[in-house]
Parts: sequence; structure tokens; C-alpha cells
Amino acid sequence: MKYSLTPRPLDVQAKDALIVFVQNKKPLLSGSKTICALVEKQIKHSGFDGETQQTSVFPTFGKTKPGRIVLAGLGKSADFRMEQLERAAAAAIRAGQKAGAKSFVTATDIYLSHVTEPAFIHAVARGAGWGTYDFNTFKTKPKKKPEASLTFAGDCKNAAAGRRALADAQAESDALLSTADLANLPGNIATPQKIANWAQKMAKETGLTCSVLNKTDLKKQNCNALLAVAGSNLDAKIITLKYKGTDPKAKPVVLVGKTITFDSGGISLKPGKGMGWMLYDKCGGMAVLAAMKMVALLKPKSPVVGILTVAENMPGSGATRPGDIIKSRAGKTIEILNTDAEGRLALCDALDLALKHKPAAIVDLATLTGAVIVALGHSASAVMGNNSRLTQKLIKAAEAGGERLWELPLWQEHKDDMKGTFADLQNIGKSGTAGTITAGAFLSEFVPDDIPWAHIDIAGTAWIETPKPWMDPGATLFGARTLIEWIKGMN
Ligand code: BES
Ligand code: ZN
Ligand code: ZN
Repeated sequence: MKYSLTPRPLDVQAKDALIVFVQNKKPLLSGSKTICALVEKQIKHSGFDGETQQTSVFPTFGKTKPGRIVLAGLGKSADFRMEQLERAAAAAIRAGQKAGAKSFVTATDIYLSHVTEPAFIHAVARGAGWGTYDFNTFKTKPKKKPEASLTFAGDCKNAAAGRRALADAQAESDALLSTADLANLPGNIATPQKIANWAQKMAKETGLTCSVLNKTDLKKQNCNALLAVAGSNLDAKIITLKYKGTDPKAKPVVLVGKTITFDSGGISLKPGKGMGWMLYDKCGGMAVLAAMKMVALLKPKSPVVGILTVAENMPGSGATRPGDIIKSRAGKTIEILNTDAEGRLALCDALDLALKHKPAAIVDLATLTGAVIVALGHSASAVMGNNSRLTQKLIKAAEAGGERLWELPLWQEHKDDMKGTFADLQNIGKSGTAGTITAGAFLSEFVPDDIPWAHIDIAGTAWIETPKPWMDPGATLFGARTLIEWIKGMN
């Protein structure tokens, strides 16, 4: 998508469609009386009630320069969150494109309480970019869409800040869309090797460094927990991407992503129903990849390291048996009682490797437990960790970035639940309760208390299974937007 910013008002914009956001059933518009009158008439007569993500497209019949108006609902101001704005922008573009629009315009000089002008531009532009996304890699006759454009028109109080917000949104959007094409690939195509190649190419193009540990390297490094996951003929990998930062003295933040290219459960095989969705078990790593690409493009002050812990979890002759005991890289022994609880095994070695980078903080993202869907559904991810300052910062960054995190505790009882009978730890809890927290408690055993660490369980948010106004089924890349907001906030 192409973006621009102009001080010229809405009614002189000869574009295919004008996007008007509607909050409390009222259009967010200033200026043009003709446009206001058209919009108010439409709201009154079309049954459009401005609920979040609701859209309505109608022609202007030459009464004003833009050819159509797309109304996009933001719900009520009391319930407003940035997520709604970003999704409304995406939904508006999708509805507009369906109606044949290519060039879009929206007003800069509107009043939306609690949202600054640059934050408005950023969220709308990034949401609009996401709205143009289609995953059609496997369609033999894909519908070709021309590149869309979006202009922000009207008075901008701080044009320099507006342009910066737009440039950030453009870079973030590029990172999200290109990574979504990888995240949506199925397990037979997005193999560990393919992901490593993708990361290496992206690093080369954007100036990051990238190194890959293969099976023999992982054996040398004692990454036996990760190796225990790779039961098929596809080898495990650890991919490390590095961004230097502009402050040579600063310690890096390390992002760790669970990247299971397919999770069949292994010998503890999952039921067949819905198993196909487990191609998205790589989405922690995909969010880290997208965030690293954003970092490479935006060049924040802080150094950032991204680590993807990659394997395919399949039954096979080399697969781990329930009851097997392995020694993790950190030296702790683990009884693997359920091979479907593989994410924590892949992560614990990567967390231990992360310590080598002397991190200022570690954040891991993982589609780790079905239990998080029981707890929070699909509208928030769970966050837990060892440092409440970090957790709070991430919660705030998520809110600003159009995502939602909810904190869960990590108590001693949960840690005790993960103690092994024959080894130091076991990979499932003894009590069979608090599935999301006990998974977090297991991970906490691999991070010293003095290193701020947070774990984000994105099992409920990493992908969407039914069409929504703001996107078709597929990977959401949940987490990337939170991470970049958090990292930009360190500048
Ligand atoms: N990848 C799954 C978690 C998952 C489930 C993600 C549903 C998204 C949707 C993970 O590896 C897993 O299978 N976890 C088990 C853990 C259990 C065996 C302790 C689970 O949640 O059932
Ligand atoms: Zn699993
Ligand atoms: Zn999994």
C-alpha cells in the first residue's frame, strides 16, 4: 500500500473512496458540510449502527470528489481500544476493495479522545495495510488486486510527526505482510530448513546478521530438549537474528519464538479433528521474525536478538517415547510424560541459549497451551513472568499496539507441580490444573530471577479460523505489534 499525507481537505480529493470512522454512531469528521450531510443520511437510513468492524459502502454520485464513502464502526467511546481502530481501518479497506476502490482517503483532522494524531495515523495506516492482505500463494488463478493507496487529508498539527508515524506504519506493514506469507504456509512447505532460508534472506536484505544451528550443532550445544521434539526426518534448528542497535553500550533484548512447523502431538498423538490448524504452531517464531524485520527497518536504539526454536513434532522411529528422560542444555533433567507438551521443551533450550547474549530482558512468544483458550478465549494472550515492571510495560505496549495481554500469576505451587518423579522436572503438571500457568512455571526454571523475563502464550490469538471483517482465516502475527511498540518505547 502507498501512503501519503496532504494538508488539502477531503472534499477536493479525487479518490475512489473516503473512509469515515464512526464512534457513538457519530461520524468523526470536521469541515466539509456536503460530506457530513451525506454520511449522516446514510447512517440514518442504512441501519449502520457503528458497531466495531461494521462497515457500509455507498456511492456519492458526484456530490463530492471522493467517489464512495466507506463508513467504519469504532463502537462506543467508553469501550474504545486501539485494536478497534486498527481493525476498523483494515475492515474499511477490505470492504472498499470489494466494491472496486483502489485509492482511499481519510481525514487527519478528526478528534478521537485519548488518541494523539500520530497514533491515529499509525494505527489507521498499519491497519489499512493489513486490510489489503490476501494469502493466495496456492490459488492457481489468484484474483489480482492493484496496489491500493491511502491519503491522510486535512490539517495535521505536527506534519513531521505525522510523516514519521506513516513511515513507521509502512515499514511495520511491509514486515507483517511479508511474514504472513511465510506463517500461512503449511507444514509440508514451511519446513525448518525453509524457515531458516527465509530468515537468512530477510537478514541479508535488511542488514541483520543471521546464524543457524543445525542438528550437529544442536547436539554439540546439548540442546537435547529441542532435539527430543524433532521426531520426523526433518531436523530441528535454532535460528538467531541480531540487530546491533545504535547504542553500543546497551544490553540487548532477546525475543524467543516457539516455531513448531507442525504439531501432531508426536507419540502422544492429537485427535484428528482440527489438527490441520497445528501448522500455525510456528507462530511465536513468526511474530519474532516479523518483529525483527520491523526492528531492521526502523532501527531503534536498543540492540535486539531474535531466536527461533524450530522443529516438527511428529511420531517417527526417532520420536521421543512418553517416559523418556533427557538432559536439557541448562543441565536440568526432564521426564517427557506427554510428547504433545513439546513447546516448553523447544523453548527451554532456547531460553538457556538466550542467556549467552547477556540480555537486558527476555520475552518469549509461544502457541503453548490449549488451556489459554479456556481461560481467555481468542481476544487476549496471557502474559506471565518474573518481573512485574516488564509485564506491565508489555501490557501497555500491547494496548497501544492494538493487541491485548492479560497477566496470569506464576506461584511456587505451580513450580512444585512441574517437579519430576525421577528427573528434576516433568513436562506436564501432576495436578492437571492451570495448564497455561504450569507451562509458564516450567519455563521459569530456565531463567535466573535477576533477568527480567516474560512469557506470552498466544495459542488463542495467533491465527483466525473463520473470516472476520478485518481479515480472512490465517495467521494474525499476534505479538509482533506489541514487541515493536515495546522496543520503540525504549528510545
Ligand atoms: N501447540 C499446542 C497448544 C495449542 C493448542 C495451541 C490449541 C493452539 C491451539 C501445544 O504444543 C500442546 O499441545 N499443548 C498441550 C499441553 C498439554 C499436553 C499439557 C495442550 O495444550 O493440550
Ligand atoms: Zn503440542
Ligand atoms: Zn505445540
